[in-house]
Amino acid sequence: GKELGGIYTVIQTKAKTTADEWGENYFLIGPYFEQNVKTQVEFSEPPNPAVKKAMDTMKSQGCQVFFGRWLIEGSPYVILFDIGSAAWNLDKWKGEFWEVSNIGIPFHDREANDAVIFGSLTAWFLKELSCQFDDKPNIIAHFHEWQAGVGLILSRSQKLPVATIFTTHATLLGRYLCAASLDFYNNLDQFDIDKEAGERQIYHRYCMERASVHCAHVFTTVSQITATEAEHMLKKSPDVVTPNGLNIKKFSAMHEFQNLHSMYKARIQEFIRGHFYGHLDFDLDKTLFFFIAGRYEFSNKGADMFLEALSRLNFLLRVHKTDVTVIVFFIMPAKTNNFNVETLKGQAVRKQLCNLVKLVVCFLCRGEIPDLNKILDRDDISIMKRAIFSTQRHSLPPVTTHNMIDDSNDPILNTIRRIGLFNNRTDRVKVILHPEFLSSTSPLLPLDYEEFVRGCHLGVFPSYYEPWGYTPAECTVMGIPSVTTNLSGFGCFMQEHVADPEAYGIYIVDRRFRSPDESCNQLTQFLYGFCQQNRRQRIIQRNRTERLSDLLDWKYLGRVCGTEALTIPGSKV
Ligand code: UDP
Ligand code: G6P
Ligand code: GLC
Repeated sequence: GKELGGIYTVIQTKAKTTADEWGENYFLIGPYFEQNVKTQVEFSEPPNPAVKKAMDTMKSQGCQVFFGRWLIEGSPYVILFDIGSAAWNLDKWKGEFWEVSNIGIPFHDREANDAVIFGSLTAWFLKELSCQFDDKPNIIAHFHEWQAGVGLILSRSQKLPVATIFTTHATLLGRYLCAASLDFYNNLDQFDIDKEAGERQIYHRYCMERASVHCAHVFTTVSQITATEAEHMLKKSPDVVTPNGLNIKKFSAMHEFQNLHSMYKARIQEFIRGHFYGHLDFDLDKTLFFFIAGRYEFSNKGADMFLEALSRLNFLLRVHKTDVTVIVFFIMPAKTNNFNVETLKGQAVRKQLCNLVKLVVCFLCRGEIPDLNKILDRDDISIMKRAIFSTQRHSLPPVTTHNMIDDSNDPILNTIRRIGLFNNRTDRVKVILHPEFLSSTSPLLPLDYEEFVRGCHLGVFPSYYEPWGYTPAECTVMGIPSVTTNLSGFGCFMQEHVADPEAYGIYIVDRRFRSPDESCNQLTQFLYGFCQQNRRQRIIQRNRTERLSDLLDWKYLGRVCGTEALTIPGSKV
């Protein structure tokens, strides 16, 4: 599902290019989740007889396997295993996995147990498939992440005639050590990795990851920075680095994306009118929308540094008496129980006023000077008065849109409390935490993520741990400038391929060779500099940003030659 973040984006966006190349011979294998499948998969019979036979064998032994097309661009075939239907094999399969790997999985780790079931099913399928061919069959199986790795380890130990690839999108240990605020990159060779994994109670997961890496015929990572990390955390350098791409659609009209920006910005402004009702003493036409988005890893994603920089930016904008207001969205999923009342009320008030205005405009259009006493009855007038009274509020516009389950321990909210960014009238920087991924069906902010990004002015992703980082890449292809860092795979990739990334709206914060305070100042300067641009400059900058999109297209990155054949203005390749 989507909540997986970037890994989902990799698989989903690459499908088209891969299906174009491999056609009927490309199959995605994954776990079956009824809810997702219902809306995203069209079931069918496997046209390939060998695949059908392998599936039939497994089904005859009681396990549920589904086949169909995944309804995304490229409509690739999918083979889905129902983990639940095979769960009764768990003890046997854990035993077999232990026999070949000496990795024991504790019973309480549900995810790791599921990984054993899924992996055993995958290896079983590959066995049933490959044994149908007399000569060595041409089968390549590509596994992503430790959760899929068991299938690879078993395929190898059973000597199946299958070529295997393993891709890590991070290392388990790297992610944990960074989140613990250790000086990771200056101590890569200093960690006692087994001990660190043990202390974090992820030793078995770590072993699954490491065994997958070492068993694979080809090991790949998504960036050079993760390659170096893997060398130390997993004791193996990747054979190939495969930077992540996107499926890029070009508009026929060059400036279509600028129009989209305008259109979706208007939708965000509408939400803001509601959210800040009674406090709209700033000019929406001079308001900039910044955002950060992704899985909620507070310090790894740099939300900590971003907040600190916002506090400094607020100060700068105030002392320089700037007429610009910055509204910052944090889109990071946390546990919630629904929207909060104050937020819903804001949107309700906005709609009420909107209807009221329509009513009045309607009279005016008829050329009547509305004599309220004649046209409206007492009830109508009461409704209007109520609508106007309800725009008065006694509280500040809320900092979060939802009721947070763990409000008092939430790191973003706690930081906001500490730095005092409470959406006061005097603040030039306002913040809104939206602790849920966006969706066009939301009653509050009915936009999907892509539309939201298009409507914003700047994506800010000051990550400390980011093997690739799709969020700034997605901004780039939509022509929205963004901030990234030289600790993110994407940031390093841009630094390597573009001569002057900043000139193209890619701001790269140095978090590698500077102290956190210096990095934060650099970030603040980027943000402040951005605020000083006028509309014309922003439009030109968006045009330049968009010109980098080709660099991120799977069309090129999906091939071995990568970006070598590309020429981008200002790029080094
Ligand atoms: N994303 C999304 N909906 C949202 C916010 C983010 O689908 O409301 C997606 C976004 O498009 C991106 C992914 O989440 O592809 C985050 O990937 P990234 O590589 O930046 O970080 P990860 O979460 O994998 O560490
Ligand atoms: C796009 C539109 C313009 C609009 C501009 C606003 O370029 O095509 O018509 O004026 O966006 O840009 P801004 O950065 O102020 O949101
Ligand atoms: C992981 C990483 C992220 C990367 C994604 C896709 O989730 O955290 O940086 O973009 O995988 O490779």
